[in-house]
Amino acid sequence: MPTKIILDCDPGHDDAIALLLAWGSPEIELVGVTTVMGNQTIEKVTRNALSVARVAGITGVPFARGAHRPLVREIEVADAIHGESGLDGPVLPEPMIELDPRHAVDFIIDTIMAAEPGEITLVPTGALTNIALAVRKEPRIASRVKQVVLMGGGVNVGNWSATSEFNIVIDPEAAHIVFNESWPLTMVGLDLTHQALATPEVAAAIAAVGTGPARFVGELLTFFGETYKDQQGFDAPPVHDPCAVAFVIDPTVMEVVRVPLNIELTGSLTLGMTVADFRAPAPPHCTTQVARNLDNAKFWGLVVDALERIGDPAP
Ligand code: BDR
Ligand code: CA
Repeated sequence: MPTKIILDCDPGHDDAIALLLAWGSPEIELVGVTTVMGNQTIEKVTRNALSVARVAGITGVPFARGAHRPLVREIEVADAIHGESGLDGPVLPEPMIELDPRHAVDFIIDTIMAAEPGEITLVPTGALTNIALAVRKEPRIASRVKQVVLMGGGVNVGNWSATSEFNIVIDPEAAHIVFNESWPLTMVGLDLTHQALATPEVAAAIAAVGTGPARFVGELLTFFGETYKDQQGFDAPPVHDPCAVAFVIDPTVMEVVRVPLNIELTGSLTLGMTVADFRAPAPPHCTTQVARNLDNAKFWGLVVDALERIGDPAP
């Protein structure tokens, strides 16, 4: 039985690849895609999600637009990494599918409440604004989801500040809500995703697939590689968001360790830090875990296999 997921994203180069990985993997049933501001405005990331759907030939999956700003703070976008459109590099086709009329928060609640308990996995790859709003509006979703597997945070590593990762620090109050809920939560953070580098060998394996969606990913990676080099000095770009999807497809692709996690909300230098308490073995009531070592070959194998399955959808 495939795992049913809602991908809550802000495409975003790596979000786009996460969407392709989810769509092309038989272990996953994509029951919905929701968008949240982050890498760019909500209008731009939502349009990008629909363009990626067209590239991959995604049909029969509802797409719903979500939060246009963080809970408390002003919006902060990552145009230096993702460009003016949020998905600079390839030509983005005109979207073909219509948005679901519901707000993402209502879509998330409706979908989880209509499903069997333990059926839906939430996979957030952007700010946690929609997820926090959903669980505040309908607290019963906390005990009805199977788990939350998110890309965000990092143990003692940041990218938007010395201590903090972008998805968490742009809406730390939302992250605080989500990390302190009772649902099982896996943090696939920078410790892990900085191992998922799109090296020239990876780019060659993707190019060898030889399809339109594979070329699209190649163009995404070229742009992403340039901005990551300029902005953060990486020789090859870390492709964060598909790592969370990969964990749902095959948990053996990374090692995880149970540890209490919380979000710093008051530090003047450490706002949005994901604080992991490794002082003692995790207590029995601990519901959080953090990902660490990535099986790199297995991970990129999943991405290439998904692209092969997607093939060349009709335009
Ligand atoms: C995260 O921030 C975004 O820019 C990426 O899409 C990813 O979700 C990495 O810090
Ligand atoms: Ca993202």
